[in-house]
Amino acid sequence: MSLVIDDIGLLVTNDPTLGDGPLGIVHNASVVITDGIVESVGPSGKVADERIDTAGACVLPGFVDSHTHLVFAGDRAEEFTTRMAGRPYDGGGIRVTTAATRAASDDELRTLTAARLAEARAAGSTTVEIKSGYGLDVDEEARHLRIAAGFTDETTFMGAHVVPHEYEGRPDDYVDLVCGPMLAACAPHARWIDAFCETGAFDADQCRAVLEAGRAAGLGLRLHGNQLGTGPGVQLAVELGCASVDHCTHLTDADVDALAGSDTVATFLPATDFSTRQPYPDGRRVLDAGATVALASNCNPGSSYTTSMAFCIALAVRDMHLTIDEAVRAATLGGAAALRRDDVGRLTPGSAGHAVVLDAPSHHHLAYRPGVPLVREVIGGYRR
Ligand code: NIG
Repeated sequence: MSLVIDDIGLLVTNDPTLGDGPLGIVHNASVVITDGIVESVGPSGKVADERIDTAGACVLPGFVDSHTHLVFAGDRAEEFTTRMAGRPYDGGGIRVTTAATRAASDDELRTLTAARLAEARAAGSTTVEIKSGYGLDVDEEARHLRIAAGFTDETTFMGAHVVPHEYEGRPDDYVDLVCGPMLAACAPHARWIDAFCETGAFDADQCRAVLEAGRAAGLGLRLHGNQLGTGPGVQLAVELGCASVDHCTHLTDADVDALAGSDTVATFLPATDFSTRQPYPDGRRVLDAGATVALASNCNPGSSYTTSMAFCIALAVRDMHLTIDEAVRAATLGGAAALRRDDVGRLTPGSAGHAVVLDAPSHHHLAYRPGVPLVREVIGGYRR
């Protein structure tokens, strides 16, 4: 089956060999997708079995949202409200969501996850990573990952999210559980392992132990770091060769240098900084230093309850001083790099045919028209 997306006014390919600038922009273009794979990119007027006429609209690769916690029950609107009244975010609400999620049935969690993914897709996300981390015991973590794996290939085991009540005061015993029986039960359902390296969560040695155990079990490595203050997260992620270190809100010069000299992607989650009233990270500085950057939603009920990558793009442009082109690239190709994928985040022959048609003449409208649902149509997505 072949499909042509035709009469595209402005096409973002993210392939500089196909068009202008780093985004590889082509005007008056068409994209032919055969059996889900991009077959060709060329001038308007190509023929295929099916045709979408965009009437001069902008088309770009589907967003690659490389950081979400979508499998959860309950909400924490009240916590958000108190935060907006001045109470700081400290991650303590993770245990509230853990209680609600443990109490939900498989069917309930599947329905909730499917609804959030439908929302993400309607907002243009075609690749979505999903972490566990609201189970915090062996059976629950494995259950949440099984549910996540029913929707996406990009699943992440995050038993090391916080220490659960049952292990209060015994964090090292909990780390042993995570590295032993929990990892054994979860690894078959996960591609990645992650840990929350932060005061109040896990220290560098504990995170190192978790990630090394995950590596030995065949998982790829990612890390939450430098969210609430400076700390060892970024340096640890670079030392261990993590695919990505996420948050990066508080960075020292040494952290920026370490990122710039590494293959570890700096993944910014600006909707989190918005929702926790934190300062925004200095994305400009990290990009200028030469690091690879990604933008992701971090959709979760506590620190960032949004699936909108367009919102993240608008924040990155307004408050992290990325250009619109840089922000769009970070939300597509950057996310793909954070997931070590070269088949998504671009529209080039051989890549996945995951595309978004905007109700707008250019990708600049994603930041220029914040809060406006500009996604007209989404093609392909989620599975390889
Ligand atoms: O990435 N930082 C840790 N985990 C999530 C927050 C989860 C929550 O508050 O429920 C985050 O912000």
